[in-house]
Amino acid sequence: MPDLERAAPEDRPAAALAAVADHRVGFGSVRDAASGCRACDLWARATQTVFGSGPVPARLMLVGEQPGDKEDVAGEPFVGPAGAMLAKAMEEAGLDRERAFVTNVVKHFKWRPTPGGKRRLHEKPNKVEIGACLPWVETELALVKPEALVLLGATAAGALVGPSVSVMRDRGKPLAVDLAPLVVATVHPSSILRAGSGREAAYDAFVRDLRGIAKRLAA
Ligand code: URA
Repeated sequence: MPDLERAAPEDRPAAALAAVADHRVGFGSVRDAASGCRACDLWARATQTVFGSGPVPARLMLVGEQPGDKEDVAGEPFVGPAGAMLAKAMEEAGLDRERAFVTNVVKHFKWRPTPGGKRRLHEKPNKVEIGACLPWVETELALVKPEALVLLGATAAGALVGPSVSVMRDRGKPLAVDLAPLVVATVHPSSILRAGSGREAAYDAFVRDLRGIAKRLAA
């Protein structure tokens, strides 16, 4: 495995994971390497890599799907409408957003233009894109070493735990996987934004899931 700085852009995710496993690099080097990642084609239409952000290590790590339009421009995860929803729910649940490490399974924004071409619409990443990007979030996990890992939505849960997990069936309950001492899946905050008349109930259920995590972290 070549050194991280010399790794080809398409080999960067695997090179980073290996370098962190060998204690050869820290978070800054990994984030720098991710900025030039070409492991799948999504980089070509995105503004930039949106890497995880927050303290390293951190007791709490949250993983979403991929950056949205706002995150793509800002270069920071969860700074758009879903991020505002997440921050509000975390505060209500007693979780400190500033002390959590927040990231996504996929680090580039995947989008298609609206028919008029004025806006960029989110598109779900496919299996190849998720697989290519996965070593980045595994690398973040190895560096952040959270006590609690929260998987926001089906893409994060499926990528990190596998198809056995169903977010709606298993939400809020500790999952029997060894990614972190506590691993919990819940809905993605953007699903609450789309919930229409069920929005209040969806938000309350999300806060309940997060409150359960806060309680377990405090115990
Ligand atoms: N949705 C996500 O999954 N991640 C973000 O960073 C923003 C929206």
